[in-house]
Amino acid sequence: MSNIEIKALFPMPFVIVRGLLSPALVQSSIESICEATTGANFKSSLLHHTEIFDPSSQQPYCQFDEIIMPRLMDFGALLFGEALNWSIKEIWTNLMEPGGYQAIHNHSNSFISGIIYLTESHPSSRTVFHRSIGGREFIFSNDNPNAEMGAFNGNKWVAPEMKPGDMVLFPSYLLHEVPQNQGQRRITIAFNAIPERLDSWGYAVSFNSYRSGQDQ
Ligand SMILES: [Fe+2]
Repeated sequence: MSNIEIKALFPMPFVIVRGLLSPALVQSSIESICEATTGANFKSSLLHHTEIFDPSSQQPYCQFDEIIMPRLMDFGALLFGEALNWSIKEIWTNLMEPGGYQAIHNHSNSFISGIIYLTESHPSSRTVFHRSIGGREFIFSNDNPNAEMGAFNGNKWVAPEMKPGDMVLFPSYLLHEVPQNQGQRRITIAFNAIPERLDSWGYAVSFNSYRSGQDQ
């Protein structure tokens, strides 16, 4: 009798943390964010962002560091195999009105990115994650109605329903977008995190956060 094993080689971690923020913290965060000054996204005028903050400097974000950090450490250990010191170097809020969308992008100068959902998302505006696109090679695919998409041939993945207070963590290079929101106002907090140091057999590199115009 044959014994078949299928291995998912070199998979990418993606973590969903349910109920990270308490309902009370979700509510107080929404209240303070709604008082904040926002600027329109340069592609969708129905998507607004707050300023990008150092998380230690600003309410409500300074409360999140302690809550997020253990999850960040665990995710970092999946990525780099070691319990490294991590810091959230920037955090901001996205307010998406009905009709708004977020174009496909990834987050540069960062290793782990996260999204905390403060409101329900209409099914139309669930975050969509993409396998890399572009490149300079010719592409062959077998995307057609008879083809069943799965982890080995799929090119994109729609995140499952997220409840207020849920968080996702993913490698910052992963492309993602939010299709046009056909529901009510959608509010999410996003952040980027870096490890203090990576060391490859003594060839080490350190990272710290620096924002132009900001003193160290
Ligand atoms: Fe993003």
